[in-house]
Amino acid sequence: MRSDQIRQGRLSGERSADLEHFLASMAADRWIAEADLLVDMAHLLGLSRQGIIDEAPARALMAALLDLHDHGLPEEAFDEHYEDIHAGKEAYLIGRAGEDFGGRLHMGRSRNDEVATCIRIRLKQELIALVQSLAGLRRTLLDVAAAHTETVMPGFTHLQHAQPTTLAHHLLAYEQAFSRDTARLREAYARVDVSPLGSAAFASTGFPLDRDYTARLLGFSRPAPNSMDAVAARDFAIEVLGDIAALMTTASRFCEELVIWSSAFVGFVHLDDAYCSSSSIMPQKKNPDVAEIMRARAGSAAGSLIAAITIVKGLPMSYNRDLQELTPHLWRGVEAARQSIPLLSGMIATAAFNTERMAAEAGRGFSTATELADVLVREYGLPFRTAHRIVGRAVRHGSLDIATLEGAAREAAGLSVVDLGLTEERIALALDPRHAVAVRTIVGGPAPAAVAVQLTEQEELLARDRAWAEETDTALSRAFEDLISESRRLIL
Ligand code: ARG
Repeated sequence: MRSDQIRQGRLSGERSADLEHFLASMAADRWIAEADLLVDMAHLLGLSRQGIIDEAPARALMAALLDLHDHGLPEEAFDEHYEDIHAGKEAYLIGRAGEDFGGRLHMGRSRNDEVATCIRIRLKQELIALVQSLAGLRRTLLDVAAAHTETVMPGFTHLQHAQPTTLAHHLLAYEQAFSRDTARLREAYARVDVSPLGSAAFASTGFPLDRDYTARLLGFSRPAPNSMDAVAARDFAIEVLGDIAALMTTASRFCEELVIWSSAFVGFVHLDDAYCSSSSIMPQKKNPDVAEIMRARAGSAAGSLIAAITIVKGLPMSYNRDLQELTPHLWRGVEAARQSIPLLSGMIATAAFNTERMAAEAGRGFSTATELADVLVREYGLPFRTAHRIVGRAVRHGSLDIATLEGAAREAAGLSVVDLGLTEERIALALDPRHAVAVRTIVGGPAPAAVAVQLTEQEELLARDRAWAEETDTALSRAFEDLISESRRLIL
């Protein structure tokens, strides 16, 4: 084992494997190892361009970095003896190029700005990927909704039959939420998109680094304006975890509904077998395990958010090692969302909705009573509160036929709805779930025409989000390609 180049000077002694393991961030550092190589190349190009490093060590270092980029980092760089990938990689470079060359890369740099830059690079990539997978989920929701604008089903409040709606209206409610989740991630991206590189430990450096240049090389919009904030800030991670917790909460609610809908009590949906598991003892069982695990993952994501906030809340400026402990929570949250969203999309795309069961339940539990009360108001001139009381009393008596309504009107309001002109036919129309849906044509409503407007608007929003993801992804990939080409030019 090579001795640890960072401890050698100031500290003595060997440490136990347990202690090294306790301190190490190697497992989470696999998330940022590739980004770290890009950061090294950008830093080295910056040193070279500013004349801070001579040509010979610059070329030797760049050759080694490109080799690592092309062939991957060796496992020895991830040895926990080095605490983190930054130290492990530096030890490898020194071993390979000799200290006279290998020992010159870390000029004007600290692991503090290095790690913050790496996290932001990887997180930007993950945010783009998340927006893209959310776009896939929204595509599925819009397609299934478009096919079900006439599929009447019961809507619920308090999980009690409340009013009829359509499956399209219900699915679009989720699509709305997922489009807001997308907007939040896009807004967060703008705040992640600043480069800490050049901030060094926190007080920047006396070397004349060009922070604009390295920020540009790494595809950042600009350097972080304050070097202390640059290394100390993790609110960008908290923000993304908050966005992910919100997104996973939406996914979890959807999963909860799929669990309810797929139960034999309800029977609104048959989930594809691929998304279900069986029982080790009960041979007949088909359980919605994917939806259940996803519902639980939302809890874990919320836990990651709370962990991140709690880790940061007591920290003085600037870098504290506690921050290392936050990063795995960030990746855990990212991973939860990254895995869940495509699965949720697949689960919905392959689900078989039982539209007959939905239609049969749509009018149950007097779910059209509101429409009947509205008719008494609109067509027979009653105050809403009076109509509400009459219909409510009729429901208490167990029926909405004309005789019961008439009795209820006399009893609860001292009037006759028959005298007002109410007929069996008018009642029947008001109680038809399709009619109740059809008259709800105002903005946001479930009537097919109103849903068509929502579909059009959401299609446009989706197209804009997709375009953003594509453009941002292309720009970022191009920056990295340019960085590699620039690096290769250095050793020509
Ligand atoms: N592994 C560390 C982290 O994730 C990198 C920064 C270490 N800095 C330090 N001063 N020990 O935060």
